[in-house]
Amino acid sequence: MLRRNRALTPGQSPYRVSPDSVAVSGAEVTARLQDGAAAGAVPLRLTLTALADTTVRLFVVEETPLRPRYSPQYALERPPTADPAGFKVVSQTAERLHLSFGTDGQLVLSYEPFQLEVARAGTTVITVNSAGLFNFEHYRPKPQPKEAAAEAEGGEASDQEQPAADSEQPGQWEENFKTHRDSKPHGPSSVGVDVTFPGSAHVYGIPEHADNFALSDTKSGEPYRLYNLDVFEYEVGNPMALYGSVPVVLSQSATHGAAGVFWHNAAETWVDVRSEPDSGLVSTVTSYLGGSRAQASKHLHWISESGALDVFLMLGPTAADVMRQYKQLTGVTQLPPLFALGYHQCRWNYNDQRDVAEVDSQLDRHDLPFDTIWLDIEHTDGKRYFTWDSHKFPSPEEMIRNVTSRGRKMVTIIDPHIKRDNGYFVHADATANGYYVKDRDGNDFDGWCWPGSSGYLDFFNPAVQEYWASRFQLDNYKGSTLDLYTWNDMNEPSVFNGPEVTMHKDAQHHGGWEHRDLHNEYGMLVPMATARGQVARSGGTLRPFTLTRAAFAGSQRFGAKWTGDNTAQWSHLKHSLPMLLSSSVAGISFIGADIGGFFGDPDPQMLVRWYQASAFQPFMRAHAHIDTRRREPYLFGEETTRLVRAALRQRYRFLPLWYTLFYENELTGMPPMRPLFFSFPGDTSVYGTDDEYLIGEALLVHPQTEQDGRSVSVYFPGADTVWYDVDTAERFVHGTSTVSTPLDKIPVYQRSGTIVPTKERPRRASAHQASDPYTLTVALDAAWTATGTLYTDDGASFSYKDGQHIYRRLSFENNTLKSSAISGSGETAGWVERVVVLGLDKVPKSVTVTSSGREENLDFKYDKDLLRLVIRKPAVNAGADWSIVIA
Ligand code: NOJ
Repeated sequence: MLRRNRALTPGQSPYRVSPDSVAVSGAEVTARLQDGAAAGAVPLRLTLTALADTTVRLFVVEETPLRPRYSPQYALERPPTADPAGFKVVSQTAERLHLSFGTDGQLVLSYEPFQLEVARAGTTVITVNSAGLFNFEHYRPKPQPKEAAAEAEGGEASDQEQPAADSEQPGQWEENFKTHRDSKPHGPSSVGVDVTFPGSAHVYGIPEHADNFALSDTKSGEPYRLYNLDVFEYEVGNPMALYGSVPVVLSQSATHGAAGVFWHNAAETWVDVRSEPDSGLVSTVTSYLGGSRAQASKHLHWISESGALDVFLMLGPTAADVMRQYKQLTGVTQLPPLFALGYHQCRWNYNDQRDVAEVDSQLDRHDLPFDTIWLDIEHTDGKRYFTWDSHKFPSPEEMIRNVTSRGRKMVTIIDPHIKRDNGYFVHADATANGYYVKDRDGNDFDGWCWPGSSGYLDFFNPAVQEYWASRFQLDNYKGSTLDLYTWNDMNEPSVFNGPEVTMHKDAQHHGGWEHRDLHNEYGMLVPMATARGQVARSGGTLRPFTLTRAAFAGSQRFGAKWTGDNTAQWSHLKHSLPMLLSSSVAGISFIGADIGGFFGDPDPQMLVRWYQASAFQPFMRAHAHIDTRRREPYLFGEETTRLVRAALRQRYRFLPLWYTLFYENELTGMPPMRPLFFSFPGDTSVYGTDDEYLIGEALLVHPQTEQDGRSVSVYFPGADTVWYDVDTAERFVHGTSTVSTPLDKIPVYQRSGTIVPTKERPRRASAHQASDPYTLTVALDAAWTATGTLYTDDGASFSYKDGQHIYRRLSFENNTLKSSAISGSGETAGWVERVVVLGLDKVPKSVTVTSSGREENLDFKYDKDLLRLVIRKPAVNAGADWSIVIA
């Protein structure tokens, strides 16, 4: 299907809209679409919907399909809301329909050829089929056996392609891949179309690939592939498919703003990225909506093997708008429990209870803060998930209680492949109830994974979701406690003896769907049911925590993701930044990479640099392959331990900021880890930047990712912006500076005009920080103003959703720092022990605090070289209204 679609010649598309079929009703336009060049072409039904928040949906299926087309069932959080104001007809002719919608949206549907042009505030931001690559392989009756046999000879993956009977291409009705056969019972059914961002030279997203953040032109190479796979030792700088597939792209242009496309299809998908005018792929769209012809454009050619052609066009105009528009479609990461933002200690495997106790106490002994210890597959009884190896883990509850008695949690791995052993209760239940995915002959699919011969639970069956969720009840999962959380791995799904190490495409799922139709969505259902089970086991009171390897659009709703099996190489450390950024802009905001690299043995320097980078990334976990040398951070001598300790302390120091950002992510869809252009869209020089990034709006991070690197070139964006080193308060102004990075240095800077909350007392876990006081660092801008926010709650329950939280606006203006409520009525033991004001270029005479009737002069210390004022002990509650005046 890739070859067929890639072979299309750009230019005039043969697809036409029949003018008299076009009907506009409220927020919907329907029309008949047909290949005008093919005799007897099957008519297609096109639907355009105006959705809330300046988003348009294009949906195309056969008018009278031989077989229904699959639409992902779980990517959208709920049915999208149509714009109540609907479409308004601006004009309608025999050639085209011109509509307006939303506050400033416009849309032109051209009939011959079929094209769409969508504009916002008079600027065309997206066109569809302007390169003429629309293609819809309609379902058709299977050719007679003689013809089909002739085709099978060829096979799409074979070298010997021959034209088959009935002008069909070979391999369309059956294909052989190495030793595997894909029976393709429904024949060719691919869909594809080009989507163009006029005026844009930069597009991002479609994780997961180990490539640059700004997507590369694929003209001379392979397209980006989206097909969830368990890839062994993946290479970097490559568009090959990895564990997750999120078909969403964000475009950023200085002239056209930001816009986004969400390709709502869970089948194997390819995306060609072309730049106009360089690629020779010239858009033929005639702009009806005014504006000059764009200088540069990015074309995306989307191709999926099956399913409906279903595209959401999100019109921005800023990146924050696109993140919100996308959030409205697929939802957002719920605020994680606080511990999940701490440091996670993992390894394949901690061997037994003694090992766990030893790691736990060694980390403590070396003053290395951490929040969890994880157990990989070896903790189970023969890879039977939800069980324990009774020799190595004879008393799991006691082990968990021992770890959690010091305020920490544990995590066990639970994979979705089930050992085919009649004595194993999950297998017995699955067999008795028909819970497994079926092979093409209708038998329980049997694949090879960690336990050997395995069945794969069919999570598309709601009864299986219920069953899986119920496994997490403490009575069902013996040896578990409410402090035990879950890691879902191998959920692509990984099938060791399957084609490309995954499931056969002709396997069958609940609802009569082929695996081909929904492959990329399968993995997401595992953490979905897991999270549901965790919530249910606590009677609906506690927030869940899951980590997943496979992902699809919408996965963000169910927990964290990591980037899978990376390698202990500097190039992998470096590529973790663009990989995490790509995920972040595609909504998967709780994302991290294995510290140290999963395969291989990092030397102490690499390990330290990896800890340093990860301390400033959303999900922070160390992990290692079973064959690697032990690498707990206290094993490399005092110096390494000291350096890792310092990095971990930075993590815990900034936890109040991370927690606030994750809460705000839930509100707005803005990821905590952001590319520079999110805050500096006017600076085109940062559009390709992926060696540094922002945390929220306040911090700029440029990790050292080079071996023996003793300096980095940091680009400080923002013409009138000053950046303050978070360790030394050293000032940097707009431009590039070389900063030295001795082994203990993590280059992190606070932006002028922001206020950042921290907790500065070194603690052993996030739970121990609960009553710790805050430090507020106020970095003044040129006008002597600054703003920030602070969020806190009980760190674990859902009561924050009922207002049991503290969410404050912090602002500095007119020489006054103020805290005022944004929402919430919770309480906190946290008080403000210190305020640091940076960029103050006069010696203050006095500093006075006012809070609930109390007015008091405060001690302060001013450093005129650093322009830094430190105000001691304002002693105000972080949840109260107060103000501090600097006179
Ligand atoms: C593959 C995962 O990617 C890795 O993190 C894990 O350790 C192994 N499976 C064993 O469970």
